[in-house]
Amino acid sequence: MEKLGLNEIRKKFLEFYKSKGHLVHESFPLIPDNDKSLMLINSGMAPLKPYFSGLKTPPSKRMTTCQKCIRTGDIENIGYTERHGTFFEMMGNFSFGDYFKEQSITWGWEFITEVLKLPEDKIWATIYLDDDEAHDIWRNKIGMPEEHIVRLGKEDNFWEIGIGPCGPCSEIYFDRGEEYGCGKPDCKPGCECDRYMEFWNHVFTQFDRHEDGTYTPLAHPNIDTGMGLERIACIMQGTDSIFDIDTIQHILRQVEAVAGVKYESGKAKTDISIRIITDHIRSVTFMISDGILPSNEGRGYVLRRLLRRAARHGKLLGINKPFLADLTDVVVEVSGEAYPALVEKHDYIKKIVNIEEEKFAETIDQGTNIINSYIDELTKEGKTVLPGDKAFKLYDTYGFPLELTTEILAEHQFTADEEAFNQLMEQQRENARNARKSDAEVAWQDENIGFFNTGDPTEFTGYDKLIDEARIEAIIIDRETVDEIREGQEGVVILNKTPFYAEMGGQVGDRGTIEADGCVLRVNDTVKAKDFFVHKVKAEKGSVKAGDTVTASVDPLFRNRTARNHTATHILQAALKQVLGDHVSQAGSLVNPDELRFDFTHFEALSAEEIQKVEDIANDEIAKFEDVNTTVMSLEEAKQSGATALFDDKYADSVRVVSVGDFSKELCGGTHVSNSGQIGAIKIVSESGVASGVRRIVAITGDGIAKALRADESLISDVSSALKTQPANLITRIGSLEDEIKSLKKELEDIKAQNIGNSVGDLLDGAKVINGVKLVTAKFDNIGIDELRAFSDELKGREKGLVNVLAAVNNGKVTFLVSVSDELVEKGYHAGKMIKEIAKAAGGGGGGKANMAQAGAKDASKIDDAFAVAETLL
Ligand code: ALA
Repeated sequence: MEKLGLNEIRKKFLEFYKSKGHLVHESFPLIPDNDKSLMLINSGMAPLKPYFSGLKTPPSKRMTTCQKCIRTGDIENIGYTERHGTFFEMMGNFSFGDYFKEQSITWGWEFITEVLKLPEDKIWATIYLDDDEAHDIWRNKIGMPEEHIVRLGKEDNFWEIGIGPCGPCSEIYFDRGEEYGCGKPDCKPGCECDRYMEFWNHVFTQFDRHEDGTYTPLAHPNIDTGMGLERIACIMQGTDSIFDIDTIQHILRQVEAVAGVKYESGKAKTDISIRIITDHIRSVTFMISDGILPSNEGRGYVLRRLLRRAARHGKLLGINKPFLADLTDVVVEVSGEAYPALVEKHDYIKKIVNIEEEKFAETIDQGTNIINSYIDELTKEGKTVLPGDKAFKLYDTYGFPLELTTEILAEHQFTADEEAFNQLMEQQRENARNARKSDAEVAWQDENIGFFNTGDPTEFTGYDKLIDEARIEAIIIDRETVDEIREGQEGVVILNKTPFYAEMGGQVGDRGTIEADGCVLRVNDTVKAKDFFVHKVKAEKGSVKAGDTVTASVDPLFRNRTARNHTATHILQAALKQVLGDHVSQAGSLVNPDELRFDFTHFEALSAEEIQKVEDIANDEIAKFEDVNTTVMSLEEAKQSGATALFDDKYADSVRVVSVGDFSKELCGGTHVSNSGQIGAIKIVSESGVASGVRRIVAITGDGIAKALRADESLISDVSSALKTQPANLITRIGSLEDEIKSLKKELEDIKAQNIGNSVGDLLDGAKVINGVKLVTAKFDNIGIDELRAFSDELKGREKGLVNVLAAVNNGKVTFLVSVSDELVEKGYHAGKMIKEIAKAAGGGGGGKANMAQAGAKDASKIDDAFAVAETLL
């Protein structure tokens, strides 16, 4: 049998099934499409489920893929064994109601014996207990010896994951030889030992499993096979460890090189870290290339965990700089040909890894110190469980995923109180949720309308009209349904229909009036509670009763300015995608008459050029006077049309799609302008980060820009008059002021130097002589250490045999400087030793050399005492 590289095996597999009439499909992304049961694609068949169940028609009845997969069930064990990784590739051939068992097994046999040339006598097969059909194919069509065919139970030979297509299966094993075995006479596939290695599962998908646990036959039987590429590569390359496979080993070698640590094939503790980094960097590279970004939830959290776990093990290996971004190079090198997206997005992948790594690097050392101190505490106190609040602090402040904390604890046989941790986590989520909900919304729902639940849902007529006739269904004042609202009263009004848009999807609720004969209600806000549009009103004039007919009029200026900002948000989103890439997706928004706020996923701050580009593209769309159209269609249609939607959001079956020419198309329930030209213009006023991987843009439109311009103008004019010049001369004026400051500073320094000269004379005149040594002591307020030194140097330069002890007081803090002339140093006087005693007298400490020393102290009132100490010392 030939030693084949992993990339060659993949190629041979796909070519073989292509020659058998299969459509070769590139690997589907790791993010499941429309499958809420799955966080990440974990098998070849997962993205094909709709074809198996008949929900969708496959592009061909025979398909073959090599699918990228990630399994994250046991991340904390990865690295401790040589056979498991989070990332792997699964090769498979699939039949959707086309061929069945016999064809699947005979082609499989042909591939492994004629293409891979595995020795026939080493191949074994397992089948489901009563699957005689499979038995006969192996026995009679293939000619496999009876003793090589093993019948196993549901556990091993019936393949299903949760609900959906499933069926009996036949697994193909490779006999690695007696030396791997347990030696028991009945050792065969299914035995716990390492002798027989399963590498290819042929599933005869013929049942549909339902939620209640029952099975029904599928409309047509299918074939789903899965061969772990890394597994078969191990067999072809004669190794036990996936880390010895050619491609993976190439990555591992690079980890060794960066760490400067040799891999000992399982013999050293450092091997675990090397394997962890080698595996995780593969997953990380592929995940990011498929558009996953590190975050605190779902897939993004898995990515973050993997990155941070790898980063920590890098530290354990002694790597003290960010290294993971560069490590993606080798992953791209070995897998780039099969997955061109890796090459295309390589720069992007590196950027993301780098940002996440640097962010973690800022806190990993602190976090590690903290967790070590916790471990010491636990040990001292004889406890074994880390309290939840401490684990939470590590998560919240130092970015340690809980799993990382528990893993580090486990290394010392400790655990964490995960329940308490989860409670704190839930509390934090709850706080965030509450903060997100506007106060109005919460208060309205709970206090004002919670009990109101009669009548038909409010009909919204505000997409086409700003004024409508309606009937008052209910008036609620102070949480009570009343018949009438009178002049001066505040309350809530519900109409049978309304043109008022209620706050939703980031767009604020409309304002305006509700009027009846002799009565005006001012609408200060509109919110939705259950199915009702709730107008928050104050009766400005007259009174009105439930059941009365009224005219509801939305304030057109409020609405139009809001609509302008809403359509602008859509245009901005499309422009951002164009400039930054398709990973940009909406993470939140707020639209009111004054401004728009748009939060979106992106990994770094936008440059000035990027912001300008986005603005220019958006403003071009506005100047094109594109029509804005809204269409109601089915969710499926909307998706097919490529409309942007909030991923993972819940939508009704029929949705509203808002498009701006061909430029932007989004699912949206908000109100919009009818032509992009009505926006006038867009100006981005700020760009900032709001959370990891989420940026925020605030922008203004139309006359909002004029207003902002006016504010800027008035600021410039105020600054100009403060600087006594004209706006056009501001820069020159500031330049000349700077020059003036510079020359004044210089003048001041000259005067100070002169002053020092004069004062030094005075100080020397007042020097005391103790045991033949001259001592100068002096205290200065508010002078810097440089000036103090200058004093000291000047004193020393003028007089021989001198000790000077100077103190500077700044903001109540004392700095002492002791300087000893060279002749005295030779005689044994030591500034460093003296200053210790001197500073101590004023509550401080310090030290230094024999000729010069400096110290800090706290108590300025004790400076004279300190000087007295100096005298005593001499
Ligand atoms: N779907 C089967 C598996 O993952 C082939 O093992």
